[in-house]
Amino acid sequence: MLRRIRSEQLQVGMFVARLGGPWINHPFWRARFLIANEEQVRQILSAGVQEVWIDILKGRNLAAPDTPGTPDTAEIPDPVPASALTPDPMDPATAPQLAATLDAEIVRARELLQSGKAVIGSMFADIRMGRALEVNGALLLVDSASRSLSRHGQALLALARLKARGDDNYLHAFAVCALMIAVGRTLGLPDDEVRELGLAGLLHDIGKLTLPAAPAHKASERTPEEEEIYRRHPSAGYRLLNEARLYSNIPLDVCVHHHERVDGRGFPYGLAGSELSVHAKIGAICDAYDSLTSSRPGHQPWSPARAMEYMAVRVDTLFDRRVFKAFTRTVGIYPLGTVLRLRSNRLAVVCAQNEADPLRPKVMAFYSVSQSRPTPTELIDLRHSDETVVAFENAADWGYTDEQLMEMYATVA
Ligand SMILES: [Fe+2]
Ligand SMILES: [Fe+2]
Repeated sequence: MLRRIRSEQLQVGMFVARLGGPWINHPFWRARFLIANEEQVRQILSAGVQEVWIDILKGRNLAAPDTPGTPDTAEIPDPVPASALTPDPMDPATAPQLAATLDAEIVRARELLQSGKAVIGSMFADIRMGRALEVNGALLLVDSASRSLSRHGQALLALARLKARGDDNYLHAFAVCALMIAVGRTLGLPDDEVRELGLAGLLHDIGKLTLPAAPAHKASERTPEEEEIYRRHPSAGYRLLNEARLYSNIPLDVCVHHHERVDGRGFPYGLAGSELSVHAKIGAICDAYDSLTSSRPGHQPWSPARAMEYMAVRVDTLFDRRVFKAFTRTVGIYPLGTVLRLRSNRLAVVCAQNEADPLRPKVMAFYSVSQSRPTPTELIDLRHSDETVVAFENAADWGYTDEQLMEMYATVA
């Protein structure tokens, strides 16, 4: 049984179940512990923690009656409000970043992806082994991803979409993390919420690690039994995060609700529209986009433009309209790396968005369909050209990999 008290009411012998306030910033944020001495009380007070949840079954209760208006006992604590996360002005994560060119940032984003793999890989391995979840490394990764997106808004998103086989869990988590940070920024959410969104992206599917491999990773044609098991992963993830004492609203919310849909036909609870938070709606859209554009067993990756089109026609049934609009502003109606067929019957790859006119991005023409051969590349700004888009294409159908296309467009944007 938990009871919320003010920090100054803490006494030796009380069992701290959770600390309120800026959970990431204070030194005890993952801890549940018995207050053994006055020094611990002083540390909590000097860390700026305003309120504390004590477990009155495991430790001493507050003897005196509480002051009027003070929250009373509650069986389940409310998650820490997102606003409790305060950015540190000295933190490089929140310090201003200098803009970088796309090709320069792709190089750095590649290194980030590589180093993040070890961090997240060991976090996932711990979960599989039943060890405690440790998210400090994940938070550092979120901050690095944020800095990358500050230097260039597209490099990390373009790179994270290119998936290598065998790294599915990690790369999906990382891609959703990057997308959620980027969409949170487009929506103008405060930095502390955006940071939690990033963490939510990394952790959203963590419940899958507790499932048998087949239902967790099959993209299609799950048997009814496998589907039933698969649908447990949001709640399993929520439980894992709670067990890890990650009392943070946004990761918990996104973890449990990222498969909910605005028409109420999602799972696990069938929540609809206003019952879902903006964070859960961001999670749903970023997760769906990355899943559709990824290669998984039984599912060929869709081109980013095809995924955008698929999602656009499901706005108001599967996806929230306002968040999807922000999503399209973030990645583009034709995301970077999309292959388009132009009126001149040439293929061109999208190199840069035109924010004012998202249907007419900057493209690099590289292949003649009528002559069935590559052509000298030509950079075209579709806003100032007679060329128009007649269709979007799948790069693989023309023998090009996403990596090859990236080499082509990265240097010109
Ligand atoms: Fe999921
Ligand atoms: Fe996912």
